[in-house]
Amino acid sequence: MTQTPAERPYVIDQFISAKAIAARVEALGAEITAHYKGSDRLVVVGLLRGSFMFVADLMREIDLPVEVDFLEASSYGNATHSSKEVRILKDLRGEIAGRDVLVVEDIVDSGFTLSHVRRLLESRNPARLEVCALLDKPSRREIEVQATWTGFTIPDEFVVGYGLDYAQRHRNLPFIGKVRFPE
Ligand code: IMP
Ligand code: MG
Repeated sequence: MTQTPAERPYVIDQFISAKAIAARVEALGAEITAHYKGSDRLVVVGLLRGSFMFVADLMREIDLPVEVDFLEASSYGNATHSSKEVRILKDLRGEIAGRDVLVVEDIVDSGFTLSHVRRLLESRNPARLEVCALLDKPSRREIEVQATWTGFTIPDEFVVGYGLDYAQRHRNLPFIGKVRFPE
């Protein structure tokens, strides 16, 4: 699929189909439901903006009383490079002290975002704090951090779709694709 070039022309090759995503999300939902069985204090904390679609689908697979809140942290500009500075652009609406907090992230790359968010949320004394990441690029890790649940472990490729963007585009793709820059 060819796209209008932002600066350099690029193409998106399908990598993980909508069907494969749905199957994995269903399995994650079942594992998460089993993990939190009996809890009536679960709150899903979606990291904006990349996780919005994953949060929406994952929550529908969690068979427990659950609330949702959102946090926006920035670590990326418009390029495919990670910056090490993490800023909180939008904080949670609710308190999380004593709650079971499930942080839902689109992708763990260098690990800076997740590590910063983890530290921030831990300081608010949740009962338990776990992380569910749709994607993980372990080969890019610069700081030690690990999600409790991971949807797919992927190689060092820039991916878009199902919430993830390239220069704010392609979040609406129902599948996950790889961005490729032809010579
Ligand atoms: P980290 O702080 O380097 O781990 O970066 C995490 C954030 O960078 C993710 O939440 C994404 O928003 C963004 N990101 C990292 N890799 C990709 C990618 O391949 N496609 C789109 N966004 C990405
Ligand atoms: Mg993100």
